[in-house]
This record gives sequence, C-alpha cells and structure tokens, in this order.
Amino acid sequence: MQLLSSIAAFRNARADFSALGFVPTMGYLHQGHLSLVRQAHEECGATAVSIFVNPTQFGPSEDFARYPRNMERDLELLEAAGVKLVFAPETAEMYPASFGSYITLPMADEVLEGAARPGHFCGVATVVCKLLNIVQPTRAYFGQKDAQQTVVVRQIVRDLNMPTEIVVAPTVREADGLAMSSRNSYLTAEQRAAAPVIYHALQAAHERYASGERSAAALRQAIADILATEPLARPDYVSAADPLTLQELDEIQLRGVLLSLAVRFGGVRLIDNLLLEPA
Ligand code: PAJ
Repeated sequence: MQLLSSIAAFRNARADFSALGFVPTMGYLHQGHLSLVRQAHEECGATAVSIFVNPTQFGPSEDFARYPRNMERDLELLEAAGVKLVFAPETAEMYPASFGSYITLPMADEVLEGAARPGHFCGVATVVCKLLNIVQPTRAYFGQKDAQQTVVVRQIVRDLNMPTEIVVAPTVREADGLAMSSRNSYLTAEQRAAAPVIYHALQAAHERYASGERSAAALRQAIADILATEPLARPDYVSAADPLTLQELDEIQLRGVLLSLAVRFGGVRLIDNLLLEPA
C-alpha cells in the first residue's frame, strides 16, 4: 500500500493501474467505510481510498476543527483490507491560496441536508469533483447513509460528463440499528443508548408502508411519533420525499419513497434514511 499526500505523486502511482475502484472518505474509518472498500476491492481489484477532512463542506459553526481523526489506525485498516493507494493530502494541496472554482447545486440547497446546512453540498460537490479528477477511478463508491450526497454526486457526474461510474452501497448499522458514523463517537453513553430511536422510527414507518400506507404525511407522522417517545432526541427534520428529486411527497407512487431525518442529541447531529422501493 502506498500513502501519497501530493497530487503529482498520486497521479504517478495511479498510472500503474488500469481499472481502479475509489472510496472517498474523511477518515476515522468504521465498518461502513470498510464495506465500501471491500465492495470496490471485489469489483475492481485495485482500490484507492482518500482521507481528507474537507473544510469547504463544514459550516462556520460546525465541527470541522473537532472532527475525529486517527490516521495511524485508518492506515492499518486499509492495509489489512488490501487497498493499494491512499491519498491523504493537506488542506493547502487541495485548496491552495489561488483556489477559486466552486460547484453549486441550487436545487440541492433547498431541501433536506442542503437546506439545513447552507454551503454543505457546494463543498461536497467541489471536493468530489476534484478527487475524481485526481484519482480518475473506473468506479467510485458512496454509502446510502448519506442519501442526498449520492443524489448530488450522480448529478455532477452526469452534468459535467465525468467518466466514473457511481456505485451506491447499503448503510451498515450497529447491532441495535444505529447507522455507523464517525460522529457517533461524540455521543455520551446516555445519548448513545437513546440514539437507536432513529432506526426504530424509520422501521415504524417502513411497517406502515409494508401494510399498504401510501400517504407521505402518515409516514412522516409515524416517524415523528416514535422520536417523540425519546426525550433526548430533538428532530431537525423528518422527510418522505421522491428518491430522485428529493421533493416532499403527498402520495407515494411509482418511484417509492426516501424516508430521511436529522436528529440532535445534545450538540450531536445524526442523520439516517431508508429507501423504500415501489411495491
Ligand atoms: P465520510 O462521512 O467519511 O463517508 C465516506 C463514505 O462512507 C460516504 O460515501 C458515506 O456515505 C459512507 N458511509 C458513512 N457511513 C456509512 C455507513 N454506516 N454505511 C455505509 N456507508 C457509509 O461522506 C463523506 O465522508 C464526505 O462527504 C466525502 C464524500 C468524503 C467528501 O468529502
């Protein structure tokens, strides 16, 4: 496994492979990240992973400075997973003083995470575009955990005619249903014990859908009702939206529904979702 921190050195090392799978990350790796790495490894053989806590996707009052980091452990996990190339640049390598191009997605900024986190998807789209241009992978792997991020990435790849194939992999959960996330490490023991309410709420809505409920309002209410049973959970939003346009639905029809939510436990903001296929 080679660890590269400059773009020039990475490009040089990348030239030794034809097909290449790629998993972009912000590090502090868990089984969710590693499931993407394993899938890339199985499907593409050679795999590259980036570790870069991207400052442009964090708002001024968000957790960029305290975002958890553990490069040594991350490298051990990636080495054991058979990864060939790790790209871990410093901020100045990705954003030199002369940097001046940003990708904006006005529609994504109006809904869900985009509406809750102004500028977030501009930062995500910009860094993912840069990383795909640097790495030039055959396929790049993203988690369903960040549902709107997958929609944004597919949009830029389509709009900007990037040749990489985008693959979306299922959300990996802890045994009690909590979606794995680097941010789970911020939770106190009490908050951690309460956090599975997010998954229970999604499951309650899933059951209503499976038994024939097609009113989006009824599914949003089913989620809100379960969240309300947990005093530590403060919902930010609860959504039942079209999986492609992310617009809120009235009646669920042919494309199924993306149920998604953001919930605060003290100062920790967690997101999760379930994609329900059409019946
Ligand atoms: P990060 O939060 O580190 O996540 C890296 C990738 O792992 C993303 O595609 C994310 O959706 C996926 N992932 C996270 N938790 C997961 C889980 N429990 N199950 C399955 N996949 C999971 O997402 C980012 O970084 C950044 O926005 C990035 C794309 C790297 C751009 O900076």
